[in-house]
This record gives sequence, C-alpha cells and structure tokens, in this order.
Amino acid sequence: MRWFKLAVAYTAACAVRVGAYELDVNDRESIKKGAELAADGMMHYYAGHLPGNTPGILPPPYYWWEVGAMFGALMDHWWYTGNDTWNDIVMQGMLHQIGADGMIMPKNQTTTEGNDDQAFWALATMTAAERGFPNPPEGQPQWLAVTQTVFNLQTTRWDDEHCDGGLRWQIFTWNNGYDYKNTVSNGCLFQIATRLARYTGNQTYSDWANKIWDWSVESGLISDDYRFYDGLDIRSNCTINHNQWSYNAGLYLGGSAFMYNITTGDEQVKWKKRLDGILWMAGVFFHPQQTDIMYEAICEPYPRGCNTDQKSFKAYFSRWLAITTQMAPYTASIIMPKLRTSAVAALGTCVGGTDGVTCGLKWYKGDWGAWDGSYGVGEQMAVMEVSQSLLIEGMPAPFTENIGGNSTGDPSAGGGGDNPQLNAIVDLSQPTAGQKAGAAFATLTVLSMTGYMVYYMVT
Ligand SMILES: *[C@@H]1O[C@H](CO)[C@@H](O)[C@H](O)[C@H]1NC(C)=O
Ligand SMILES: *[C@@H]1O[C@H](CO)[C@@H](O)[C@H](O)[C@H]1NC(C)=O
Ligand SMILES: *[C@@H]1O[C@H](CO)[C@@H](O)[C@H](O)[C@H]1NC(C)=O
Ligand SMILES: *[C@@H]1O[C@H](CO)[C@@H](O)[C@H](O)[C@H]1NC(C)=O
Ligand SMILES: *[C@@H]1O[C@H](CO)[C@@H](O)[C@H](O)[C@H]1NC(C)=O
Ligand SMILES: *[C@@H]1O[C@H](CO)[C@@H](O)[C@H](O)[C@H]1NC(C)=O
Repeated sequence: MRWFKLAVAYTAACAVRVGAYELDVNDRESIKKGAELAADGMMHYYAGHLPGNTPGILPPPYYWWEVGAMFGALMDHWWYTGNDTWNDIVMQGMLHQIGADGMIMPKNQTTTEGNDDQAFWALATMTAAERGFPNPPEGQPQWLAVTQTVFNLQTTRWDDEHCDGGLRWQIFTWNNGYDYKNTVSNGCLFQIATRLARYTGNQTYSDWANKIWDWSVESGLISDDYRFYDGLDIRSNCTINHNQWSYNAGLYLGGSAFMYNITTGDEQVKWKKRLDGILWMAGVFFHPQQTDIMYEAICEPYPRGCNTDQKSFKAYFSRWLAITTQMAPYTASIIMPKLRTSAVAALGTCVGGTDGVTCGLKWYKGDWGAWDGSYGVGEQMAVMEVSQSLLIEGMPAPFTENIGGNSTGDPSAGGGGDNPQLNAIVDLSQPTAGQKAGAAFATLTVLSMTGYMVYYMVT
C-alpha cells in the first residue's frame, strides 16, 4: 500500500509527470492495455519478419535464446489479452528456428547454443501446446513433438561422470562453459519434464523431474533453505558459484507447482514442502524497502548493473509466479499482491525514450512516473509479463492432452543412439574457423561477467 501513497505524493509534487500509465489492477481492460503498451515497445526491436531479415533473430546485443523467450512471452500475451496481433510473426520465427528436423538446433547458432538456450525455445513450444496456440501447418514439426525432441536430446546429454550427474551448460565441447553445469540448464529441463508429465501423463517425465531435482539438491545448486545458486564448475572440484538469479527460482518454483498439482498423498506433501520453501525464499527478489516490488537483486542496485540477458529475467520470474497460482491455488493470496504492486510500479517507469512510453528497468526506485534511462527488449518484456500475469485470475489452466490440448506428440523423437538426426549433430563436432573465432569471443564475455559477478552475491 505504501506504493500508492508514494505515487499520489509524487504526482502532487511534480505535476509534469502525468504521462505514466496508471494501471488499475482491478480492471482487466486496463491491464490488457498496459501489457499491449509494453509489447508494442518490445516489438520495435524485432524486424525478423521483414524482407531480407532472418525470422527468429533479434539484432545485437540480443542473443538467440532471448528471441525464444520473447516468443513464449508473446504466446502468453495472446492467451491473456486475446490480442493476436503478433501471432503470425511468432509462428514464422518459431518455425524458422525450430528447423525441419524439429530439434531447435539451427547451424547458425552452433558457436553459442547451450542447453539453456535450446530449452528457452522448448519452453515456448510447451507453452504453445498448453495454450492451444495455432498449430503449425501439416508436415511441419508440431509443438508437443518438438518439446519432446528437446527433452529426449537433453536427457541423453545427462552426464553422470562429473559431479555425480547434471546437464552441462554447453552442448558443444568447443564452447566456453562446457565444463560448467549451470542451474538454469537443469532448471529448464526440470520444468519441461514437469509440464510434459502433466500434459501427457507419462511417468517417464515425472521420474526425470525427480531425478533432476534430487541432483540439484545433492550437488548443492539448491541450498537447504531453497536458494538457487548459479552453477558449478567441473574443473574445480564441483565448486559452486553462489550468484542467485530470479529466473532460476522461478523455473524450479513453477516446476514444483506442476508436480504438486499432478501428485497425491506423500508425493504431493513432498512437493508442497518444496514449493512453500521456494516461495518463501523468493522473497529475496522483492525489494526490502519497496516491499513487494520485484527486482533482480544481484545486479539492479549495483553500479555495474545488469547485462542484456539479466534485464529480462523478471519476465520469466513473473510468468512462473503466475502459473504457480493456478497449479497450486493456495499460493495465489501470497503471489498475486506481489505481482500487482510490481506491475503498477513497472508500468510507472514507461515514460522514457523518444516515444515517451519506453519502459525502464528499476521498478523499485520509488519514483513512479520516472524512467531510469534503461531500455531494451528485456525491460519491455519484463513489464509486459508482470502486467499480463495479473489476467491469470479466472483464466483456464494450461491444457493437457485430455483437456483442451490437441498438439501432436512423438515421445521417441530425437532420442536413441541410432537416430540419424542425432548423428547429424555429432557431425558438427569439428568447428570451422569461423566457429572458433566466435567461441573465443564468447569466452571473453563469459569470463569478464563471472569475474565481476563474484562481488555481488545476494546476502
Ligand atoms: C492489439 O494490440 C495492438 C498492438 O498492441 C493494438 O494496436 C490493437 O489495438 C489491439 N487490438 C485490440 C482488438 O485490442
Ligand atoms: C542462417 O543464416 C543465413 C544467412 O544469414 C540465413 O539465410 C538463414 O535464414 C539462417 N537460418 C536460421 C535458422 O536462422
Ligand atoms: C486445436 O485446438 C485449438 C485451440 O483450442 C483450436 O483452435 C483448433 O481448431 C484445434 N485443432 C484441431 C485440428 O482440432
Ligand atoms: C573436493 O571436494 C571434496 C568434497 O567436498 C573434498 O573432500 C576434497 O578434499 C576436495 N578436493 C580438492 C582438491 O579440493
Ligand atoms: C491443479 O490445478 C487445477 C487447475 O488450476 C486446480 O483447479 C486444482 O485445484 C489444482 N490441484 C491442487 C491439488 O491444487
Ligand atoms: C513415455 O515417454 C518416454 C520418454 O520419451 C517414451 O520412451 C515412452 O514411449 C513414453 N510412453 C508412452 C506410453 O507414450
């Protein structure tokens, strides 16, 4: 409530700042318009559908994975608002990057594609199946089958030889980060497994969800008090990098909510305990002074700030907080107030740029109607997702095979050692000169980032 008082005080003191979007959290039309405003700004950056450009690619500095994340966000945008303005663009970009083999491993991305990158696209194909997003034309890979393909590919990459299990960050040996097992790669596969389990009812997916959770705890990536650390390094005795990011908590939170929803008895008690623990600790991603306003605690308050990727994390955290209120309805009274205050604050920053409606990054600044000077796809996407999440109340739950869903699946796609498609990836294992140059660049980026991040741990 403190926030609304501040907003009133600010408007009175500084009458010039009347341009900010005044979200009425009780009015679905107001929420829809707010989300559309942020979506419009986000799509100014995208030109993949225009002649001469590549569908499913954002210009630098945006990495490939973020487009998959953005398309998933836009599928939800359509679902929540009913506005299909972006659907054709999403369909075109998704299909182009998924590829005719349905593997989401385009050759152009072999210098950078990690398991987490591939998984963010697969989270979008899962969303498409769960939301009843229009199906791809016949003869093209179908949403559910593509998700299963990625699940099968990634589970064959599970590595028991180092640190007792887990998925590596990188797929290709020549990419920096091949020796790192990061939480986001494992968290993405965990959530994909839980959602496939619910959608199909196939026990194999539940078994994998349990296996990934157990390893994440045993390896120390999840602490006893449900903190989610960044990852571990194989080369230095599996030591943990302790940085905490909101999207990692969000991935495991959402996945645990799905597991809670589809289990009974002792199993359900087990998942509820985890869900409650994650939710409690997720409080670290809401600002301690501006109570209930979401922030990326490890980078937003610090001078070095957040990098391009990190600026988008609040989008996914919001997405999975919202879905948790459906899979575990008892959490709604805890989560929804936080999403509401965050959305009001988030849209309050959308007064920047030359268009006057560009959204900022630091919602927590307590300066409603002011822009912090930050702009980009991540900023817009986070405001869009936190806003549209408020529409979840009263909406149908994600579809399953038996209720609402009709996406065609293929449980064996992409799996098995004799699969010619899988062997095609192995053929890529000799990098070209161009790929090596790309890898060297990626190395520098990652190293400098890791170096500075060590200073900023969530305490
Ligand atoms: C859908 O969204 C677009 C872009 O945000 C907007 O211009 C249009 O008016 C919206 N359509 C409806 C029917 O609300
Ligand atoms: C790969 O790059 C080429 C050249 O820019 C482009 O024509 C093609 O569409 C790209 N493929 C994908 C899947 O992005
Ligand atoms: C699949 O479901 C979607 C969404 O409910 C619907 O629009 C579409 O017509 C269905 N397609 C088929 C082939 O049943
Ligand atoms: C590696 O970690 C294990 C378990 O914590 C410990 O017993 C061992 O001494 C460590 N080895 C090195 C070289 O640090
Ligand atoms: C599972 O999700 C459905 C759909 O949101 C909900 O109605 C049901 O109550 C949930 N189950 C549990 C045990 O919370
Ligand atoms: C369940 O999923 C596994 C793993 O993808 C697959 O091998 C199996 O055939 C599936 N079972 C059914 C009944 O679809």
